[in-house]
Amino acid sequence: MSNRPYYIAGNWKMHMTRAGAAELAKALAGALKGGRHKYLLAPSFTLIETVAPILKGTNIRLGAQNMAPEEQGAHTGEVSVLQLKDLGVETVILGHSERRHSYGEEDALINKKVKLALAHGLEVILCIGELLSEREAGRAEAVCEAQTVAGLAGVAAADLDRVVIAYEPVWAIGTGKTATPEDAGAIHAFVRKVIARLYGGDAADRIIIQYGGSVKPDNAAALMAKEDIDGALVGGASLKVDTFTPIALFG
Ligand code: 13P
Repeated sequence: MSNRPYYIAGNWKMHMTRAGAAELAKALAGALKGGRHKYLLAPSFTLIETVAPILKGTNIRLGAQNMAPEEQGAHTGEVSVLQLKDLGVETVILGHSERRHSYGEEDALINKKVKLALAHGLEVILCIGELLSEREAGRAEAVCEAQTVAGLAGVAAADLDRVVIAYEPVWAIGTGKTATPEDAGAIHAFVRKVIARLYGGDAADRIIIQYGGSVKPDNAAALMAKEDIDGALVGGASLKVDTFTPIALFG
């Protein structure tokens, strides 16, 4: 067993409007009260102001799903770090595969966002993960290594304690196909070695690496039982109290 806390996060993606979000946040605040792990909910931008007061004073952090690479200015349609902080956001998910593959975000852009978020005191969940074609070509480790190295380029060791890595194999996201605990655990161990090379063994021991991709109540415990899997980034199953609660309270 590591000394790392388990960190279980719900990425609500582009779901819900305010009434449903308030209801779900309230229900989860109640259900996770007393839970022993670290928790986060990341609603859409338009729902953050609704969810913020509900999570305030609870054991659930408030997150956002993306952020602009600039502090402010003429960037139509973007949302800035200052705007997120103004609403009480503590954590931002960056480099999600849906941002990488549906909206063309590349490593250099993601790295700019990572550094900006850290400079403003936010916690960052940096998502990495290979496509099915990359896995089949035997390149899963190389892709994850490249995304990790590029995503963290220029990040100071002192800031690494505010970085969480989320390994989300793209082929497992929203497909119902979960990586086996063995396959996921192997990538987690590999990424931890990459962190050790970049920042030293102590930093690698401390960094939290979440798994994401069709995490459900019936597979969460087996995944998180793996030494290097320190939590979950949950999409679909985070949208219902009945499915998120057992994942969050596992163990
Ligand atoms: P699903 O849990 O719906 O597969 O989504 C995973 C994910 O992308 C979380 O960020």
